[in-house]
Amino acid sequence: TTGAVTYDPGFVNTAATSSAITYIDGDEGILRYRGYPIEELAEHSSFLEVSFLLIYGNLPTPAELDKFDQRIRRHTMLHEDLKGFFGGFPRDAHPMPVLSSAVSALSTFYQDSLDPFDDEQVEMATIRLMAKMPVIAAYAHKKSIGQPMLYPDNSMGLVENFLRLSFGLPAEPYEMDPVVVKALDLLLILHADHEQNCSTSTVRLVGSANANMFASVSAGINALFGPLHGGANEAVLNMLREIQASGEPVEKFVERVKNKEAGVKLMGFGHRVYKNYDPRAKIVKATAHEILEKLGGNDELLAIAMRLEEVALTDEYFISRKLYPNVDFYTGLIYKAMGFPEKMFTVLFAIGRLPGWIAQWREMMKDPATKIGRPRQLYTGEPERMYPSR
Ligand code: SDX
Repeated sequence: TTGAVTYDPGFVNTAATSSAITYIDGDEGILRYRGYPIEELAEHSSFLEVSFLLIYGNLPTPAELDKFDQRIRRHTMLHEDLKGFFGGFPRDAHPMPVLSSAVSALSTFYQDSLDPFDDEQVEMATIRLMAKMPVIAAYAHKKSIGQPMLYPDNSMGLVENFLRLSFGLPAEPYEMDPVVVKALDLLLILHADHEQNCSTSTVRLVGSANANMFASVSAGINALFGPLHGGANEAVLNMLREIQASGEPVEKFVERVKNKEAGVKLMGFGHRVYKNYDPRAKIVKATAHEILEKLGGNDELLAIAMRLEEVALTDEYFISRKLYPNVDFYTGLIYKAMGFPEKMFTVLFAIGRLPGWIAQWREMMKDPATKIGRPRQLYTGEPERMYPSR
């Protein structure tokens, strides 16, 4: 019992680490950031405020939030040499490897943000990552569509600046759509942290070697790229498109999944921890209709997604395996309606997850007892044997 939550000893023995940041109850479908239910933060908070909460442990006062916001705005500009970095990639490069490379390269520009045990340097790394990663993400997108990169506008907040850098053009003013800003802010909140998922565990494992924050987050970006993890939101769209193109009823596809045809899975379904409806998916689904209606999203793909969910939630195969929609099932439809290409969906997940990665890395550096450290193994190889004499 930690005073807040009581764990059964079996769970404690298998836990990779302890952490005070995010609490998940997979059976009950509960998710809380620093004790606040995700449903309340989704309704009342902002991505910037949730980022502060995760990183510093409490909701900010208005003055603290404003200072956090101003510090981030002041650090959005990239070093011109780093901007030149994007020229080294092929035009059609997927933005995720571009993002992880550029984030790792930040450690070559900012020697004053590398020491994991110097509070001021950790603070500088925190602000620089929060400020520059969305800019790098937008530049990776612009590079992939052959459009010029704009400079950040510090009169704008993090989400607005990112949207303008992603969709704005030098030749004309960018018209900010409040529906898109609100929808993206919500989706970033929902992705902000999620306990010891694959990418966060990667950030902690790399950081456990006292690697700097940029290097650790860069490793997390690479883990998130995996289609079973953050890459699933892109995979869901491909799956919906495939069903649409086949012209077949969704039941046909579901049969292929149940027959495990060539590893076909129902992407956006299932979860390592949630054996109930992912609370984030519930929130996304509830707003998907409203957002897609306003943004003119692809109703046919949404209808296919809704039908897929309806069929799966009543099918013994999925029920017996406790497979429910996860956060990735609906998000891609919304990102698409916002105007992002599918290659950018996992990048958007990474921007959302950034404060969680930073918070978890900082927690581990402060409390070595929470280091995942060096996992051991069960050896299943050959017993000792001698080299043959010849
Ligand atoms: C994220 O960890 C996190 O917190 C991650 C995340 C975060 O915020 O960081 O929540 C984000 O990664 C969400 C998950 C996104 N991935 C997908 O949507 C990809 C599709 N889902 C799966 O590949 C799978 O569900 C996992 C990997 C997510 C979870 O797998 P589990 O729970 O460990 O289940 P399993 O692989 O042990 O499978 C159990 C059974 C198997 O069938 P049997 O061998 O018993 O017959 O369920 C089947 C699996 O074949 N199964 C699926 C399925 N997921 C599991 N069958 C069809 N479709 C699926 N999606």
